[in-house]
Amino acid sequence: VARQETDLTPEMIATGSWRQLPFKPYNFSALGLPPACGHLHPLLKVRSQLRQIFLEMGFTEMPTDNFVESSFWNFDALFQPQQHPARDQHDTFFLQDPAEAPELPASYMAKVKKVHSQGGYGSQGYKYEWKVEEARKNLLRTHTTSASARALYHLACQEKFTPVKYFSIDRVFRNESLDATHLAEFHQVEGVVADRGLTLGHLMGTLREFFTKLGITKLRFKPAYNPYTEPSMEVFSYHEGLKKWVEVGNSGVFRPELLLPMGLPENVSVIAWGLSLERPTMIKYGINNIRELVGHRVNLQMVYDSPLCRLDT
Ligand SMILES: *[C@@H]1O[C@H](CO)[C@@H](O)[C@H](O)[C@H]1NC(C)=O
Ligand SMILES: *[C@@H]1O[C@H](CO)[C@@H](O)[C@H](O)[C@H]1NC(C)=O
Repeated sequence: VARQETDLTPEMIATGSWRQLPFKPYNFSALGLPPACGHLHPLLKVRSQLRQIFLEMGFTEMPTDNFVESSFWNFDALFQPQQHPARDQHDTFFLQDPAEAPELPASYMAKVKKVHSQGGYGSQGYKYEWKVEEARKNLLRTHTTSASARALYHLACQEKFTPVKYFSIDRVFRNESLDATHLAEFHQVEGVVADRGLTLGHLMGTLREFFTKLGITKLRFKPAYNPYTEPSMEVFSYHEGLKKWVEVGNSGVFRPELLLPMGLPENVSVIAWGLSLERPTMIKYGINNIRELVGHRVNLQMVYDSPLCRLDT
């Protein structure tokens, strides 16, 4: 059987051999090679799944488009005292230029100062001299809870209180010593619900619903301490692979010392929880070292080959 030619070559034209050769007809309906295109990083795949879960549960995304934040919104508004070790440069990246935030809401700041230094709203406060210079210091935000504080303050400034469900998934920065599971920047996933008369039961129910949608059903809650929530609970899940309970998140009910200076009504409670985006992504994609997921050591082939993320399976 004579082989059919597929390409016309310069030699065929030079020698004139093309006149005798059989050519294969063009198939104009053949599918072409798939063009090279972009690939989503595993973190982005898990992020879009988490965002989908929040949207299904009726949550609205909060704006988190500022990596630089003042100490006021990052710590003071969250009732974290100015001597707290997290506010040390060993834990937090402070900015040199611009070193200070120009504008802070004056009347709200006066209430925050009072609750820290003298107490109020049934609280003794921390009884120390609160300094505005400390609150003005700019930093790279250490958690997205600073964005939640801004969102709750806006909510409190509305004429009439309306219940809300907010979420955010964005990057935060801490001066951590780097190892296989820690980097100086990572993503925080956060959910916040504000309504009248919310209890710890509502928080546990919301967490069960959220983690079930993530494919995590065996949950346990353990009392914990956070500066800005009371009560607080760490969330553990049974890991079938590791055969032990692992921490999957942190949660709590925001303290009145945080909510009442903002001007939220007395019987409004705010429940909240947070987790990192990196940990579930590493578990989902079987990555043991975070430096293979983020940074200059990332193998692009891993990004190309990483499958779709389905959290419910
Ligand atoms: C980070 O912390 C280390 C000590 O743990 C300190 O030496 C260093 O200056 C800090 N980095 C910044 C940018 O603050
Ligand atoms: C909360 O307070 C408002 C205004 O004082 C009142 O109308 C509402 O019934 C209260 N809600 C609950 C659940 O106690």
